[in-house]
Amino acid sequence: MAETCSHLHLILGIIFLVQLIFAQDEKQFLYNGFRGAKLHLDGLANIHPNGLLQMTNTTLLSSAHVFYPKPLKFNKNRSFSTTFAFAIDVDVPGHGGHGIAFVISSSINFEYAIPQEYIGLFNASNNGNISNHIFAVELDIVQNPMFEDIDGNHVGIDVNGLKSIDSASAAYYSDEEMKNVSLRGTPMKIWIDYDGEKMLMNVTLAPLKHPKPQKNLLSTHVNLSSVLLDYMYVGFSSATGLTGTEHYISGWSWSQIGQAQDLDLFKLPPFPNIRSHKNKPKFLFIVLIVVLLLLLGMIAGVALAVWRKKFKELKEPWEQEYISHRFSYKDIYIATKGFKDSELLGFGGFGKVYKGVIPSKHTPVAVKKISHDSRQGMREFVAEIVTMRRLRHRNLVQLLGYCRRKGELLLMYDYMPNGSLDKFLFKNKNSDLSWSQRFNIAKGVASALLYLHEEWEQVVLHRDVKASNVLLDADMNARLGDFGLARLYDHESATRSTRVVGTIGYLAPELSITGKPTTATDVFAYGIFLLEVACGRRPSSLQEFSTEDYVLVDWVYDCWKKGEILETSDPMLEGNYQAEEMELVLKLGLLCSHPKPEGRPSMRQAVQFLNGDANLPDIPSDYDHESNSFFGGSWSISMSVPSSMSFGVSQATVSSDNSAVHNGR
Ligand SMILES: *[C@@H]1O[C@H](CO)[C@@H](O)[C@H](O)[C@H]1NC(C)=O
Ligand SMILES: *[C@@H]1O[C@H](CO)[C@@H](O)[C@H](O)[C@H]1NC(C)=O
Ligand SMILES: *[C@@H]1O[C@H](CO)[C@@H](O)[C@H](O)[C@H]1NC(C)=O
Ligand SMILES: *[C@@H]1O[C@H](CO)[C@@H](O)[C@H](O)[C@H]1NC(C)=O
Ligand SMILES: *[C@@H]1O[C@H](CO)[C@@H](O)[C@H](O)[C@H]1NC(C)=O
Ligand SMILES: *[C@@H]1O[C@H](CO)[C@@H](O)[C@H](O)[C@H]1NC(C)=O
Ligand SMILES: *[C@@H]1O[C@H](CO)[C@@H](O)[C@H](O)[C@H]1NC(C)=O
Repeated sequence: MAETCSHLHLILGIIFLVQLIFAQDEKQFLYNGFRGAKLHLDGLANIHPNGLLQMTNTTLLSSAHVFYPKPLKFNKNRSFSTTFAFAIDVDVPGHGGHGIAFVISSSINFEYAIPQEYIGLFNASNNGNISNHIFAVELDIVQNPMFEDIDGNHVGIDVNGLKSIDSASAAYYSDEEMKNVSLRGTPMKIWIDYDGEKMLMNVTLAPLKHPKPQKNLLSTHVNLSSVLLDYMYVGFSSATGLTGTEHYISGWSWSQIGQAQDLDLFKLPPFPNIRSHKNKPKFLFIVLIVVLLLLLGMIAGVALAVWRKKFKELKEPWEQEYISHRFSYKDIYIATKGFKDSELLGFGGFGKVYKGVIPSKHTPVAVKKISHDSRQGMREFVAEIVTMRRLRHRNLVQLLGYCRRKGELLLMYDYMPNGSLDKFLFKNKNSDLSWSQRFNIAKGVASALLYLHEEWEQVVLHRDVKASNVLLDADMNARLGDFGLARLYDHESATRSTRVVGTIGYLAPELSITGKPTTATDVFAYGIFLLEVACGRRPSSLQEFSTEDYVLVDWVYDCWKKGEILETSDPMLEGNYQAEEMELVLKLGLLCSHPKPEGRPSMRQAVQFLNGDANLPDIPSDYDHESNSFFGGSWSISMSVPSSMSFGVSQATVSSDNSAVHNGR
């Protein structure tokens, strides 16, 4: 039973097969891929297992032919319709060849035909001979002047030879619009329809997935009645030249009874990766761009993260109200060229001072970089900074703003081109200051201190008046700097602080006992400063690496007692000074640094004396530093006073002025 059944199946299968072949043989056939197709192949032609028909591979100077195995009987009118899908893959851009031709031929013997420009169909002697009986539609990617080819990318209608009777550049119509297309690298379909009654040959081209365009690429009158015999072979020919080119056909439909059936795109075997030398670079380019963009994006991301970290600032909610006083760290970083050593102006009491230029404003600034570990007291300190910003006096270094980072505080000041006064007095002996400049500086600092003590809305104590904190602007005017130490006092609740800050040699004697800075302690330091300016010497031998043991104020006092006060004047001046002014400054220096606070004048009085608006009183008889024994024992005393500076810089604060590079503000 089972046996009869399988026999029946076999017989039915054979009948079906015979019918199929018979039907195809007659008037039409359709290959959606050539798997199992019995075709006549020669030359390089072969069918891939997936059904793709490969006409040529990269073997040079070779040709290939593929024909329907039997000659077909043509109608009287010779009408036919065919369509096929193809692709041409060239090795080298701009080279390759020579193309594919759809062929209707009386013979399939092409042993005398040659490849290259003859596409495996003709040779030099038979090209164009009417006895050839060959009709072809060439897809030609090489321009051959011998055949009057229009370009290297054209479709031509050939009768018995390669001099096309009509041709056009490869293109297709998409909604009336003509689009050029490259035969190289573009998988495409072509329709060839011949109406033998009207003798009209239509050729239409389109990319593989594009539907058949309404408009033909070529529509030409051809009389094929003598070219096509009653029985003709139909198929393809292809040839390579001197560069490897792969020619593929993936499907073919033929009909002599009306329009050839359309190919089924889903059944067609895929073309191998076609090197589209027109589109591939574009594609590669896009991929490259995308990869590049991704890479750039990643780099940018990393850079941004680094950048963010690098320029990360510390901001707290309470700082919102001070926002207008804040500078961005990035700006400061750029301004100081990344805190480059070449921009280093010096080392202040708290940290390094850099020169910078704010790019948007082109104005030079000085940036003080203070490290601090603790956040304690920061709020109070920032509040003070903001207040200090409001201090405006022609003899004060203007604070411009601040910035805060983790462990770091940055203060920005006006830049003073001539640096600090001590450089002129003690270090740079060549660029000595004239007496009138010194006198002017003395007055300027007095004026600034008066402003701080009495003229502003609050009492501001400077607490670190000294030559190295006096800076000189372009016109050698004095500008009192470094408000890092200044504490603000309300008029009513003065002297709350218990911090001892300042510099040895400038500390009033009472400071070591009470620990409370007052306007009088500032006056004391100012007195010492006046002596520095007049004598060109440091406050004591502690500040100078000198073998000679001296305390400046005692020495001046001794000389005054001996009536030789002018002997103390800076030898660098070589006597070029006004004696009255010199005496005034020296005596005011002594008065201001009176050991007892009540013996010192106020800054207002000091200014009056300097301006000649009041007469300087005599040095009082109780003026005796030695009895107070301050300078002898001050070192240990002031070091023992506990410091409560909140920024971890107290060590620097109580520094002596020995540092050879101490130049700061
Ligand atoms: C090309 O195809 C022919 C015939 O199939 C084969 O002998 C030859 O090795 C192939 N050449 C290359 C380069 O693939
Ligand atoms: C060209 O081909 C024809 C056959 O079509 C042949 O008779 C002839 O000898 C060939 N000529 C050359 C030069 O090969
Ligand atoms: C065309 O070919 C035939 C047969 O090969 C030959 O006899 C004839 O001379 C050729 N004609 C020309 C013009 O070459
Ligand atoms: C298409 O190609 C033809 C011939 O090469 C040329 O004249 C025409 O300008 C091209 N058109 C476009 C849109 O590139
Ligand atoms: C050829 O094209 C013309 C014009 O587009 C059209 O009228 C004609 O029907 C076409 N003939 C065939 C056989 O497709
Ligand atoms: C040509 O003739 C065949 C039958 O001989 C017919 O089926 C077909 O329609 C004709 N074609 C045209 C375009 O007249
Ligand atoms: C077509 O060619 C044949 C043979 O050469 C000729 O008899 C016929 O008159 C031609 N037809 C037209 C319309 O030119």
